[in-house]
Amino acid sequence: MPESITITDNRTGNSVEVPIVDGGVDANAWSKLLPGVWFFDPSFGATASTSSAITELDGDNGILRYRGYPIEQLAEHSTYLECAYLLHHGELPNKAQADAWEYDITHHTFIHEQLRKRFMEGFHYDAHPMGMFVSTLGALSTLYPEAKEIEDPAVRKQQIVRLIAKAPTIAACCYRFSQGLPFVYPDNALDFPTNFLNMMWRIGSDYEVDPVLARAMDVLFMLHADHEQNCGTTAMRVVGSSHADPYSSAAAAAAGLYGPRHGGANEQVVRMLTEIGSYDQVDDFIAGAKKGERRIMGFGHRVYKNYDPRAKIVKETAYKVFEITGKNPLLDIALKLEETALNDEYFVNRRLYPNVDFYSGLIYQAMGFPIEMFTVLFAIPRVAGWLAHWNELLEQDQRISRPRQIYTGEARRDYVPLTQRG
Ligand code: SDX
Repeated sequence: MPESITITDNRTGNSVEVPIVDGGVDANAWSKLLPGVWFFDPSFGATASTSSAITELDGDNGILRYRGYPIEQLAEHSTYLECAYLLHHGELPNKAQADAWEYDITHHTFIHEQLRKRFMEGFHYDAHPMGMFVSTLGALSTLYPEAKEIEDPAVRKQQIVRLIAKAPTIAACCYRFSQGLPFVYPDNALDFPTNFLNMMWRIGSDYEVDPVLARAMDVLFMLHADHEQNCGTTAMRVVGSSHADPYSSAAAAAAGLYGPRHGGANEQVVRMLTEIGSYDQVDDFIAGAKKGERRIMGFGHRVYKNYDPRAKIVKETAYKVFEITGKNPLLDIALKLEETALNDEYFVNRRLYPNVDFYSGLIYQAMGFPIEMFTVLFAIPRVAGWLAHWNELLEQDQRISRPRQIYTGEARRDYVPLTQRG
């Protein structure tokens, strides 16, 4: 049987055979046969917006690979910075490359004092940290006008290093501002996750980051680094396709991630578990979800119709963190919710499983992060994924994103003067 489809326009009898290549068919063949007839796919459920070699998902089998490497192996053996290198360069670094990459990132962690003192401290005292984070990414574009030279690979590389390096600094700054605490400067003697936790929690001179918590943070950063064409990354690619600078594009991506259906879900999971309140209230909550009255936040996924492989690793990491911090009391409610849902046909029939957000919030809360910081914690590593896709888009020299529409509005009609309107 040929690996192809045949499209026939029954109005004319004309047909075209289109090969199926890498699991897709070229829409141009459709457009030639059927000019002006558009595919209607409003949330891109069946549309590939691009080709990419960065991350592979297999939703039916719960598979996630960065440049071919299984997330389970990376989470066990790698670091976030090494994964960020892998996402960008396509290969794991050798020693010299890893050292140079880490040196570059480490020496770009500072943010301009003008940005911190005049811009970030200009927010309202109770500004949501993710709102600050989104805005500050955009503000970075005003500090680095050369970033507009997106055709130059060296300029792109410099902005990529800057954004990966500054994301944790900006995040810590958002937190310290929201708590009325003085800012802690980056410490170049510390590794990436340790430096972040130091900027978050240091008070005085005797603070030491627990290495178990630093490793847990690094594993969570790896798990969140990329996830192919999710909402935020699609925003990065769409805005980047206009040849906007990477800071403005990343601000758009972060804004997409902020939504409760996307990266905002980890914050909503903890609010949900707190609302459920106790182990014996879980069944009532599930009953409400089955009636469509609410959703189980942290459950379900557009691609994964099996257990999100990241959720398994987050769950394992949670137990390691709780040995240090003490168990999060919401864990028992979460475990009961998961067990009940996984054995209920409503969720089984819809192939709804825990996703990466279901357990991550429990870890963040146990580590002392306020829930308003959870999506910021998601965004810090996702910067690496957004930028890998942005860079790939520009290397592919893709045209500007400009989808068509199915028009359902009024036909042509003449203007009615105000005096003649009903
Ligand atoms: C992330 O895309 C990515 O890769 C994202 C991400 C990444 O790394 O970038 O993986 C990160 O965003 C994870 C998802 C986090 N969001 C949540 O946990 C919010 C809760 N989940 C959903 O709202 C929902 O599952 C989505 C948004 C994640 C996916 O939505 P879809 O694919 O559009 O599915 P749908 O809304 O069409 O739902 C299909 C059915 C519906 O029931 P019916 O209409 O068929 O009767 O499943 C039901 C939904 O009501 N359903 C749920 C549910 N999610 C879907 N019912 C209860 N609880 C849920 N969580």
